[in-house]
Amino acid sequence: MDHFNYRDGVLHAEDVPLTRIAAEVGTPVYVYSAATLTRHFNVFQQALHWAPDYLICYAVKANSNIAVLKLLGDLGAGMDVVSIGEYARARTAGVPGERIVFSGVGKTRDEMRLALEGGIRQFNVESEPELLALSEVASGMGAVAPIAVRVNPDVDAKTHEKIATGKAENKFGIPLARAREVYAQAARLPGIEVVGVDMHIGSQLTDLEPYRQAYAKMADLTRALREDGHVISRLDMGGGLGIPYRRDNNAPPLPIEYGQVIRETVGDLGCSIEIEPGRNIAGNAGVLLSRVIYVKNGEDRDFLIVDAAMNDLIRPAMYGAHHDIVPVIEAPPGVERQPYDVVGPICESGDTFRKGAELPALSAEDLVAFRSAGAYGAVMSSEYNTRPLIPEVMVDGERFAVIRARPTLEEMLSRETLPDWF
Ligand code: LLP
Repeated sequence: MDHFNYRDGVLHAEDVPLTRIAAEVGTPVYVYSAATLTRHFNVFQQALHWAPDYLICYAVKANSNIAVLKLLGDLGAGMDVVSIGEYARARTAGVPGERIVFSGVGKTRDEMRLALEGGIRQFNVESEPELLALSEVASGMGAVAPIAVRVNPDVDAKTHEKIATGKAENKFGIPLARAREVYAQAARLPGIEVVGVDMHIGSQLTDLEPYRQAYAKMADLTRALREDGHVISRLDMGGGLGIPYRRDNNAPPLPIEYGQVIRETVGDLGCSIEIEPGRNIAGNAGVLLSRVIYVKNGEDRDFLIVDAAMNDLIRPAMYGAHHDIVPVIEAPPGVERQPYDVVGPICESGDTFRKGAELPALSAEDLVAFRSAGAYGAVMSSEYNTRPLIPEVMVDGERFAVIRARPTLEEMLSRETLPDWF
């Protein structure tokens, strides 16, 4: 459930009409709903209510705006980061180091050092070379790095191939068969303290079965590791629970059902539970608001050329992803709809948001909203075609604020310098 609804025929974010944001901030613009973010976070808390101890480590990569992190951090969220940049964002948002887990296959020594200096809950280690590097960095500093090893359970997450991570062929984690050996090595290394086990099998999962299989393997591994003498007090279950991108009856499982799977598979181990949801918290808490520039009547189809483009929201071009596109001014019931190819201004055909979107007749200057754009939207944007990164706005009840400003052209160009031989 989200807080983007029509009221008096105008799409609102909570109590704010999107027409007002478009008028005051301009388009294209990302708009986030604080109430929706809060609601989604609370739903995960309810899903883990049974656990004696848990931490919801929001996956910062999904939407890393500092205001979003601050809102979630103030609700008690931990953070899952994959770079020192994300770590810095989380800390800037006031999240203490002991609530931050550091994931990712390519942590550099500098990143390890900075995270250890700043404080970190745990490193989710993804390979033996990384483990050795971390041991060297931590012991060189006279520090101890708490770790979980990310184990690859070799299950099929049944999601888009670009975002499946739990198969043996993927670059992530250590094969289950080698896990005991790697833990034994970790226990011997200076500067390393084993605290848990980590898994993450993919993103936009719409079926709980892969989770059940993976987590059952995690439970077996935890028992085996304890027999080997390791203290395993935390289980990091990863993220990945999918969201409904289409408003039909095929909604993915709910967080509460996901929480039950965790309980049934690892609940008896007495571990502190960590989860890393990103999309499920932020995805449906945001829309991309855009204005029609032209309606172009082609030979066999009509194009809606909007002011947002693939550089602002790359998911359709990159994954063939579907985002509902809706008019901001609601069409009267029963009004005829017509197919449009909704495209951006960028000079390649991949800059197509949807072919044949059924929409009421629209004209230049009309506003449309791309739904479910709160996760992997702004964070994946680029300045391709020298289009400035678009602003982000947070709505909270009747108020709203710009939480990332649109850069001026001067600001964009000022980062570049000419070599002195020119
Ligand atoms: N934890 C780890 C270790 C991850 O790699 C990810 C996502 C998450 C948590 C959060 O997954 P979520 O709950 O958001 O599904 N750009 C793609 C999604 C990439 C996800 C990468 N890893 C997209 O737009 O669909």
